[in-house]
Amino acid sequence: MQELKVLITREQIATRVAEMGRQITADSVGEPVIFVGVLKGAAIFLADLIRMVGLEATFEFIGVSSYCSRPGAEAEQRLTWDSTGEVRLTKDVDQSLRGKNVILVEDILDTGLTLTFLKRLLLGHQPKSFRVAALLDKPSRRKLAIEADYVGFTIPDDFVVGYGLDYAEQYRNLPDICVLSGVS
Ligand code: IMP
Ligand code: MG
Repeated sequence: MQELKVLITREQIATRVAEMGRQITADSVGEPVIFVGVLKGAAIFLADLIRMVGLEATFEFIGVSSYCSRPGAEAEQRLTWDSTGEVRLTKDVDQSLRGKNVILVEDILDTGLTLTFLKRLLLGHQPKSFRVAALLDKPSRRKLAIEADYVGFTIPDDFVVGYGLDYAEQYRNLPDICVLSGVS
């Protein structure tokens, strides 16, 4: 039986996201920024974060997916942490980021494979600056040495859902971040 246990409440999320917005604002005074959200997990975080930023700001979305060893294995793979290590672009940004102050917005930084792939891709645009805001960070799972500039919460090695994060596309609409267990 699948079981959900609240790890981070909606109130804690709201407080932290507001702090992150203030920090980004303080670090970028007088500069326009463009937020690039990673679909689909970061959509809800991005929507809340940009409204906490007192800057001239625009946003874009980019989409990636991990290659799977067999059809239908993705959700299972993500739960058991068995990443194949290959990332593929499913949706590119709609404009050049050349000369822009880019902030990539991720739901969770796990092995670092996705972020490493996206960082290389977006640096190819030759932005003026490049930073990463991740709502969650699981440093114990890192395979590649990469860090976010802004981290909402550092969490243990558990599978979490809610506030945009999914298991097999489910649970993205939960307002709290919950640990999911008991998936077979
Ligand atoms: P990475 O490439 O291993 O860093 O994985 C990042 C992506 O894996 C995230 O953007 C999520 O889509 C997914 N992911 C990693 N851990 C979790 C989790 O605990 N819950 C839901 N998705 C996760
Ligand atoms: Mg994601």
